[in-house]
Amino acid sequence: MSEITSTAPICTIAEIGRHEGQSVTLRGWLYNLRESGKLLFPIFRDGTGTIQGVAHKAGVAPEVFEALKGLTQESSVIVTGKVRADQRAHGGFELDVEQIQVVQRVPEDDPYPITPKEHGVEFLMERRHLWVRSSRQVAILRIRAEIMRAAAEYFDSNGFTRTDPPILTPAACEGTSTLFPVDYFGEEAFLTQSGQLYIESTALALGKVYSFGPTFRAEKSKTRRHLTEFWMIEPEVAYCDLDGLLELAENFLSHIVQSVVKNRAPELQVIGRDIAKLEVIRAPFPRLRYDEAVAMLNQAHKDGHLENPFEYGNDFGSPDETWLSSQFDRPVMVHRYPANVKAFYMQPDPVDPTFAMCVDVLAPEGYGEIIGGSQRVDSYDLLKSRIEEHKLPLEAFQWYLDLRRYGSVPHSGFGMGIERAVAWICGLDHVRETIPFARTLNRMFP
Ligand code: 4AD
Ligand code: MG
Repeated sequence: MSEITSTAPICTIAEIGRHEGQSVTLRGWLYNLRESGKLLFPIFRDGTGTIQGVAHKAGVAPEVFEALKGLTQESSVIVTGKVRADQRAHGGFELDVEQIQVVQRVPEDDPYPITPKEHGVEFLMERRHLWVRSSRQVAILRIRAEIMRAAAEYFDSNGFTRTDPPILTPAACEGTSTLFPVDYFGEEAFLTQSGQLYIESTALALGKVYSFGPTFRAEKSKTRRHLTEFWMIEPEVAYCDLDGLLELAENFLSHIVQSVVKNRAPELQVIGRDIAKLEVIRAPFPRLRYDEAVAMLNQAHKDGHLENPFEYGNDFGSPDETWLSSQFDRPVMVHRYPANVKAFYMQPDPVDPTFAMCVDVLAPEGYGEIIGGSQRVDSYDLLKSRIEEHKLPLEAFQWYLDLRRYGSVPHSGFGMGIERAVAWICGLDHVRETIPFARTLNRMFP
């Protein structure tokens, strides 16, 4: 391995355009290599992008040509070369290789398992620790990071304070059937399903708060929308009713999507996302009562678009959500579901208490629910009877009832699953690619 002696400045592929005509040093990996006699066309990647290099046998030192010739995919390299603008090149530039240092050469007899040819998803998921290096996965992870950044930015710049709820909890929030139990020094505890109950407390302390962290559901659902571990961002606002919550949700989502369009255009291009579909995502969003949504489903069934008739009073299933959300070019906010299919903490509609003051936001293009939220029960007596009706352990909820004993106010909040948002914004057909290491019913590895 010959050390690079050049004094060329170290730069990243993303900033290479600033160095046209100069020699620079890149530190990265060999993404691919095409050989054509005396010409070598290596493609380098460094995490910020990829660039094609060119090495002509007559134009480089013999040891440079030898080091590069036959070099194995994903070998780590430090390369010096001159930056040349090229209209035809992906990214607009090529690198005329001058020197190369192979940091670690991937052995020929144990090659990098993920080649540019097609692989099945199971094969790739089994090698997720390596698959994350591919351009497409890098682009998705960058968009995910932008979604998380923009989501936090929206709340930070609108008067919210981030308050982090615990992950280890003594009781259920979203129903008892989907809890992961943990042994807590001989007592049973659970991994949190949502930070909501805790941020209701901090909302009454700070007014407008949000939480952002991992949440867990032991759901035996094997769908393209379900993970057992996922990230949720949840705002909670004191003195906010359902109308205020709908407004918050549409402004929040518009901000996220427009931030991705503005800041991650190259990544959207790498994954082939139709940007026009994202540009139209601006508030206000259409609102539908549950009853109106049901009428649409009934019509869709009559017209032969939906196989099964919808039974009034049920929650929507995946096919129902897919159909509803494919009818709009913006997210649709479905509100006022029947109270008995929703969580115990939801405020009843004063007009008809059999309905809950809740909302599910369904993303367009058939993506379905990305946000669930509601106005919360603020009466002590009602909340206590709800806890009892749902057969939840009253003792564990005494602290939560305190919030209705001492200075209770109308308040509302929602939760957005980051992975559902990433799947929609990236146009992916499964959530498994939206998180670095997916945890699903069938997968806990790597
Ligand atoms: O609708 P959910 O269950 O609502 C709550 O947890 C409320 N406590 C939130 C609140 O009001 N603060 O979940 C909220 C969102 C869903 O809309 C969905 O985006 C995501 O969390 N989600 C999941 N994402 C991936 N895999 C799963 N198994 C998910 N379950 C929910
Ligand atoms: Mg929900």
